[in-house]
Amino acid sequence: LKFLETLKAPYVLKADGLCAGKGVLIVPTLEEAKKELKDMLGGMFGNASARVVIEEFLSGIECSVFVLTDGKHYKTLPEAKDYKRIGEHDTGLNTGGMGSVTPVPFADETWMKKVDERIIRPTVEGLAEEGIDYKGFIFFGLINVEGEPMVIEYNCRMGDPETESVMLRLKSDIVDLFEGVAAGDLDKRSIEFDPRAAVCVMLVSGGYPEAYKKGYVINGLDKVEGSVVFHSGTAMKDGDVVTNGGRVIAVSSYGKDKDEALAKSFAEAQKIEFEGKYFRRDIGQDL
Ligand code: GLY
Repeated sequence: LKFLETLKAPYVLKADGLCAGKGVLIVPTLEEAKKELKDMLGGMFGNASARVVIEEFLSGIECSVFVLTDGKHYKTLPEAKDYKRIGEHDTGLNTGGMGSVTPVPFADETWMKKVDERIIRPTVEGLAEEGIDYKGFIFFGLINVEGEPMVIEYNCRMGDPETESVMLRLKSDIVDLFEGVAAGDLDKRSIEFDPRAAVCVMLVSGGYPEAYKKGYVINGLDKVEGSVVFHSGTAMKDGDVVTNGGRVIAVSSYGKDKDEALAKSFAEAQKIEFEGKYFRRDIGQDL
């Protein structure tokens, strides 16, 4: 309760246990925060809130940064922004991702230098200092708070749907990089990026992320030209490609900037047809 008094409103209270994404309260006043904290500790989310994490409220635009590390050295991949909500202008339910854009305009050299010095380097060095021999991708889920990068989350993997744009910009052989990770000589491997923008637009089933039907025939895949089509929720049935999940296909494209890349993905997305197809047409518009 004393710690809450040291923070500014609004207050973020998180059940420390697993809560299916529901154990977070954002509370506008100190008085309410104290009451909610007591209620959480008293069993509001059962045992999951027997311990509560109190966090700063961070407001800004998110940015995903990825590194590949062999445990000592690391290479930073192009950053990306993903779009999680089903509805345009970030409304509606969270999804597994509706699209992504790379590069992110505010992640310029100065911002990425802060990310490297304050976040990436201390993380990789911290893992080694704690005796954790971590090799692989680290996903830094960041947020830009008035020009300062702050960490929201870490993941031990690439991001989805960031991968479907970031990988378009990787010009080097990823197998060579993976061999560098395995051999511990990642510093000796070169990594090159395509300077163009890349984006991904996800085509999803009608109704997703709630109930949706599967098994609709997908037409027009053969008409797509100049974009990369990543299959996700698809299957083969009687010689046809059919929908087989909520997030069906990612259409990824290059452009001299994000707007050109998005125009390309939207144009190619129109050629792919299946019943109930939906995609967000505002990907990248907030940047
Ligand atoms: N796009 C966010 C994630 O992969 O967790």
